[in-house]
Amino acid sequence: MRKTVIAGNWKMNMTPAETKAFITELAPMVAGLDKCDIVLCVPAIDIPAAVEAAKGTNIKIGAENVHFKESGAYTGEISAKMLVEAGVDYVVVGHSERRQYFGETDQTVNLRTLAAVNAGLTAIVCVGETLEQRNLGYTETLLKYQTKMALTGITKDQLKNIVVAYEPVWAIGTGVTATADQADEGNGFVRAAIAEVYGADVAETVTVQYGGSMNDGNAAELLSKVNVDGGLIGGASLKTDKFTAIVKAAN
Ligand code: PGA
Repeated sequence: MRKTVIAGNWKMNMTPAETKAFITELAPMVAGLDKCDIVLCVPAIDIPAAVEAAKGTNIKIGAENVHFKESGAYTGEISAKMLVEAGVDYVVVGHSERRQYFGETDQTVNLRTLAAVNAGLTAIVCVGETLEQRNLGYTETLLKYQTKMALTGITKDQLKNIVVAYEPVWAIGTGVTATADQADEGNGFVRAAIAEVYGADVAETVTVQYGGSMNDGNAAELLSKVNVDGGLIGGASLKTDKFTAIVKAAN
């Protein structure tokens, strides 16, 4: 069976002190809810505070990006090795905000995914169509293309360190959520793309999350869908009660 992963994506929110307070409050609320992996992907500066506060809990810590080179003249970037040493288990790769605002391409998303997985991290690889692409009828083509591009060079064995997050760009931070059927369909396209490369049996083992305005009110319905194996949650991951409700829905 596939692992369910509920991951918060804090984006550019929370200071180290706020991180410590948040996780200290969250930990008892999600204690024992072990039917899913619980992950908080936090800004790089918050990682030490997050790792420290999450020690001895069932909360894992993720980063929001990783560079593809091991080291060198890449001002402002962070390597996979640095993340591993800091105690990070997960890293978000190719979020649509990085594609939109920071020039990420399918090629750099692929390189970052390879760097993360080769260092032993689990990559949460984000794919998703814009509203324009959806309206033109390109959703399936685009999701399959983005998925295959991102996973180029990833071996069958390495897929156990891959989570794919289907995040329709029009549903991110907008309060507009895909319907459960749209989420299931999009996640199904991602799984079909993995099946085309690695085989259907392997595709059945890969965790595919839905992301885009998932919250405490809609999580149960979204997560009830056969292809939805968890969520990547922005806004609702910044409140302990809302995030806990989503973790409970997954349990
Ligand atoms: P949102 O963000 O839940 O605020 O829509 C999701 C994401 O971007 O990962």
